[in-house]
Amino acid sequence: MFEVQLQQILDNPVLALSAALALLVGAVSLGRLVLSILTLLFDIFLNPGIPLDRFGAGQGSWAVVTGATDGLGKQFALELARRKFNVLLVGRTLTKLEAVREEINAQSPAAEVQHFQLDFAHPAPGAFLQLKALLEELTVGVLINNVGVSHDFPVPFHLESEERIHDIVEININGMLKMTHLVLPQMLSSGRGLILNLGSFAGHVPGPLLSVYSGSKAFVSTWSQALGAEVQAKGVTVEHLNTYFVVSAMSKIRKPSFFVPLPGPYVRAVLSRIGVRGGSNYPFTSSPILGHALANWAVDNFFSRQFWVMYSLTLHTDIRKRALRKKEREAAAVAKQN
Ligand SMILES: NC(=O)c1ccc[n+]([C@@H]2O[C@H](COP(=O)([O-])OP(=O)(O)OC[C@H]3O[C@@H](n4cnc5c(N)ncnc54)[C@H](OP(=O)(O)O)[C@@H]3O)[C@@H](O)[C@H]2O)c1
Repeated sequence: MFEVQLQQILDNPVLALSAALALLVGAVSLGRLVLSILTLLFDIFLNPGIPLDRFGAGQGSWAVVTGATDGLGKQFALELARRKFNVLLVGRTLTKLEAVREEINAQSPAAEVQHFQLDFAHPAPGAFLQLKALLEELTVGVLINNVGVSHDFPVPFHLESEERIHDIVEININGMLKMTHLVLPQMLSSGRGLILNLGSFAGHVPGPLLSVYSGSKAFVSTWSQALGAEVQAKGVTVEHLNTYFVVSAMSKIRKPSFFVPLPGPYVRAVLSRIGVRGGSNYPFTSSPILGHALANWAVDNFFSRQFWVMYSLTLHTDIRKRALRKKEREAAAVAKQN
């Protein structure tokens, strides 16, 4: 039966050509898929990336880390000090800045540490000018644009407060632009520097009900790629980190898993694989830890953009329902106490 059908196709030139084309397209698609997963595995397990001494590790250079008092920012600060950078911590809470500074002093006594108090949502008048003056005294090799905030929990855009919208835009977009504008000139004139920008899957796949955060991270992605191309020939590396969930106060996830690492392993993967794409298809973009790389690869290679946006809507609608129910329970408990 099968042989007869095959013979009928081969006897008809149009059918035979169509079948040959379909086979070719299938083979090319499969080949591309296999090649992309092999590249991902090579990147994650074998590609050493750009060494940090290219950016001044062990040579008196400074790493500037924003939002350095918690989560990923704190880990970047600790890890960069371990990897022989002096560290400037930028954050809004003085006691937390001092605590991180003490932790670095105890862990990496050879590293110099300074801190600068700055609220990116509501900077004190003249704060950026003061920071500019401080930065001009330092040789900055690395800038980690880490500071970021999101919505409290998924919320329709029209119900989000103006204040939260302002904060997300000021912190996630304008904070990053201002910090980069302060350090990039000296990196360009010294011909070396690394700028790491913390992006998010929410910027890669639009996140309904987290639309302002999602839009801000799409800005981080596009801007990083444009800037990366602009400055790479001048010795400055810009990398957008397409980050999936990491255990932190922001993610509200407390237990690590294969897809959700602790900040420590995530930051170590980032710093060991600078310039390595991992699961990302985009220029100047990286997903450098296996769980995130595979998630990034799956999103890029399976189903349509429409599918992933609608998946995200379903997920966030469910999270919103649970968050509202929790709020109701908490309000009822308070009412009972009074
Ligand atoms: N965690 C994730 O799953 C995840 C996923 C994708 C992308 N990211 C991105 O990774 C970055 C870090 O996230 P995270 O999870 O580490 O967050 P986190 O644990 O909530 O830490 C945020 C840091 O930013 C600081 N900060 C917040 N508002 C500030 C302001 N107005 N001015 C100055 N500093 C401020 C916080 O300071 P205080 O200590 O004073 O509060 C804290 O040090 C963000 O850009 C985020 O979008 C995270």
